[in-house]
Amino acid sequence: MTAVAVKNDIYWVGAVDWNVRDFHGYSTDKGTTYNAYLIKDEKVALFDTVKHNLKSDLIHNIHQVIDPRRIDYIIVNHVEMDHSGSLPELIDLVQPEKVFCSANGKRALLSHFHREDWPLEVVKTGDEISLGARTVQFIETKMLHWPDSMFSYIKEEKLLISSDAFGQHLATSERFDDQLPMDELMAHAAKYFANILLVFSPLVQKLLADVKAMGLAIDTIAPDHGPIWRTNPDRIIAAYDRWSSQEARAKAVVVFDTMWHSTEKMAKAVCAGLAREGLDVRLMSARLCHRSDIIAEMLDAKAVLLGSATLNNNIMPRMADIITYAKGLRPKGKLGATFGSYGWSGEAVKHLNNALEEIGIEQVHEGVRVKNVPTHDGYQSCVEMGAAVGRAVNQALQQSA
Ligand code: FEO
Repeated sequence: MTAVAVKNDIYWVGAVDWNVRDFHGYSTDKGTTYNAYLIKDEKVALFDTVKHNLKSDLIHNIHQVIDPRRIDYIIVNHVEMDHSGSLPELIDLVQPEKVFCSANGKRALLSHFHREDWPLEVVKTGDEISLGARTVQFIETKMLHWPDSMFSYIKEEKLLISSDAFGQHLATSERFDDQLPMDELMAHAAKYFANILLVFSPLVQKLLADVKAMGLAIDTIAPDHGPIWRTNPDRIIAAYDRWSSQEARAKAVVVFDTMWHSTEKMAKAVCAGLAREGLDVRLMSARLCHRSDIIAEMLDAKAVLLGSATLNNNIMPRMADIITYAKGLRPKGKLGATFGSYGWSGEAVKHLNNALEEIGIEQVHEGVRVKNVPTHDGYQSCVEMGAAVGRAVNQALQQSA
C-alpha cells in the first residue's frame, strides 16, 4: 500500500498485514493493519510505527511523503510490539530530536528495548506540543489497553489519533470507513472490543465521560488498526458507549463440546427451548468455533449456556479454553445454565456450574445431566431448561427497560 492523505499534510503511512491469522489468541481471519501517521508541519511528526517484519513498508510509505531523516518527533502512543516493533530501526534512521511517550510508556520502552540513549520525553494528560500550525494534545488512557496507552489529539484538525481504541482487525486496500460496508466494519469493531477491551469496560465508560467533559471537537478518529473513521466517528463512539455499558439483548449463546454427539443433541434441545421464548440463539461448537468469535457473540447476549461431555472426570479441553478466555475478559450482567452427557461419573455439569461463577455469570438453573444418550425425556429436560433461561432473560430485560 502507499501513503494516503488523511487531511492536508497528514498521511497514513502504516502497513497492511493481509495474512496474519492469529493475534495472540484472537483469530484475525481478515488480517489487520498497523496504522502510523505522519504530520508535515514546521516540525515533522510520526505517530507510532508498525510490526517489526513490516518496517520496510513503513519506511517506503514515509519516503513517498518526505525523507524520513526530516522527521523531528516520534510519538509513541502505545508500546505493544505491533506498534513499536520498528521503533529501533526508525530511531536509528531518523535520529529524532524527541520521542514523546507517557511515563508508563518510558518504562515500557526501556524494558522492551533497553536503549537508555533514546531522547525520550515524558508527557501527561493535557500537555501540548506545537508542530507549527498544529498543536498535539496528549491524553493518557491508562489500561486502554496497556498502562502506557495514550491518545494524541490534533486540535486544529479535530483529529483524534486513538491508538488501539476504536480499531478493527481488518486488512483492506481502503483506508476509510465510508469506503467499506458499515455492517462489516461494525462487526469487526465489535469483535475487537469484545476480545481486547471488554475487561476494561468501566475504564472505557470513564474515558468517554472524560473526553466529553473536555469538549474535544472530533471529526476524524484515526485508530492504530483498521479503517479511519472520517465519516462516522460518532457511530463508533456510540457503539463503545453501548458495548462498555454491557447492554445486552434477548440473545443466547450456547457453547458446547461433545464426544459422541449426545451433548450436541442436548445443545440443540436447549436452543429449541430458548427460541420458544423468543430469544435470538447462537449454537457454537467449541471445537469448530474460535474462542474470539464466541466471545464476540457473547458481547450483546444476555444468556450464556455451557455444555460438555464428561471426560476423565472433567470437562472437554476446548470448553476449558473458552472458559479460561471468558474468565479473563469478565463479561458482566449475564445469565446462564449448563448441561452435559456422561458415561459413569458425570462431573462436567458441576465443573461448568463452577465455571459460570468464576466467569461472573448468574446461574439460573441447576443444569441438566443425561447418562449416555438422551431419551425423549432427556431432550425435554433440555428444552425446558432452555425455556427457563429464556424466561429469566425476558424478565431481566423487562425489569431493566
Ligand atoms: Fe495494537 Fe495493543 O496493540
